[in-house]
Amino acid sequence: MGSEASATQEPTIQGKLARTVIDPASYADWDNLLDAFDHIRAATPVVKVLPDQEGVFDPFWLITRYDDVMRVSKDNQTFLNNPRTVVFSLNEGIEFAKQMTGGSPHMVASLVTFDGPVHMKYRKLTQEWFMPKNLRSVEDEIRSLADATVQRLIDAGTDIVDFVPLVSAPYPLHVVMQIMGVPEEDEPRMLMLTQQMFGGQDEDLNQSGMKDMTVEQITQLVAGAVKDFEAYFAKITAEKRANPTGDVASTIANALIDGEPLNDRDMMGYYIILAAAGHDTTSASTAGAMLALAQDPEQFARVKADRSLLAGIVEEAIRWTSPVQHFMRTAAEDVEIGGQQIKKGDWLMINYVAANHDPAQFDDPRTFDAARSPNRHLAFGAGGHQCLGLHLARLEMRILFETLLDKLDSIELAGEPARSKSTFVGGLKTLPLRIKAS
Ligand code: HEM
Repeated sequence: MGSEASATQEPTIQGKLARTVIDPASYADWDNLLDAFDHIRAATPVVKVLPDQEGVFDPFWLITRYDDVMRVSKDNQTFLNNPRTVVFSLNEGIEFAKQMTGGSPHMVASLVTFDGPVHMKYRKLTQEWFMPKNLRSVEDEIRSLADATVQRLIDAGTDIVDFVPLVSAPYPLHVVMQIMGVPEEDEPRMLMLTQQMFGGQDEDLNQSGMKDMTVEQITQLVAGAVKDFEAYFAKITAEKRANPTGDVASTIANALIDGEPLNDRDMMGYYIILAAAGHDTTSASTAGAMLALAQDPEQFARVKADRSLLAGIVEEAIRWTSPVQHFMRTAAEDVEIGGQQIKKGDWLMINYVAANHDPAQFDDPRTFDAARSPNRHLAFGAGGHQCLGLHLARLEMRILFETLLDKLDSIELAGEPARSKSTFVGGLKTLPLRIKAS
């Protein structure tokens, strides 16, 4: 592993170390990944990542220090989400998106692809809905989803149970679908559609069958999924206009921008970003919290007896897992970060995994420390694009763990947990446990 200086004295990484940063498989090998980020952060905290062969992907600056990721996240004038794709993609993928959309590198126009005043206008439409005060109105619904989910876990038996497919994956999906007004029987279809549109990178998790298809077949599949999604939400929109309920889908369906209802594409973008942003993320932090408890029975017993410890466990699990592993930005002007000259138009990766494991900010960052204080992690980002669903994510996790702690006497790790292969949103895809119900 090594960093080099190019002719212009820019620090660069290429080859094995660069592949570690961009290869989905390396995110499944967590300790090795954290070692690589520690090495890069110490040697070259702001570094240009180069492809092995020109044209595979466009070089980008990798930002690994907590302070630098915070600065880039908060400066939404200098570091834009547009025009480059907001998530790292190989050029082949970007071309594919352009083909699909008629020129845009973004498959879907949404909050994460807007900047400046337009972004603010769209964000404001649902911001209130996602605030703690309003979320109290959905607490009871979330609690019944948590109850049903935990009951399913208990019913699954006394032998080994896999927490991910039984609890941490379906529960946040149920919550997000509920707030979007999607009935439970349509959830599998919605899950399939989001997977078809975004092509999850892990073959075990992406059930859309894409891995065996040609580019033409994938294009047709995605085009079909977008159409299906549009038709589905056109129906929901019509229902929520005729008969608004208190859910977020009603808020979007009846929202006005400059006095006009949202056009179909923007409305779809809103539904899609919520459907996509709200489940795998919370699933990963939930599974991480359960792993931490399973690895430390004393901690499980302590929090079972004293629920005031739960908030610390939830927050630390979100830092420790960092489910959203990166986002990309584009420099709007020449700017210096960490001693490096970033040029207008340069592409940057803000890496939340690296920032949340920066020893300059977090003592002993690989250790799960529920008492960590302060715990100003960057797992939800920062600045104008900071996660809209952060209060919902914390609430969902708190309610689920309250239920689990009420109903379980003990949990024990019953095999090796495995992580998904994904550079963007990632976490455990299996967590074998032995549980004892109360
Ligand atoms: C944006 C993380 C759960 C909705 C983001 C961003 C991150 C993130 C890192 C980008 C922040 C930035 O650019 O500065 C997470 C994590 C979650 C989670 C770690 C769970 C533990 C949710 C949930 C929802 C949600 C439950 C809603 C259902 C959104 C939306 C955005 C966003 C709409 C775009 C905000 C914007 O660009 O203005 N999230 N998220 N997220 N998240 Fe979350």
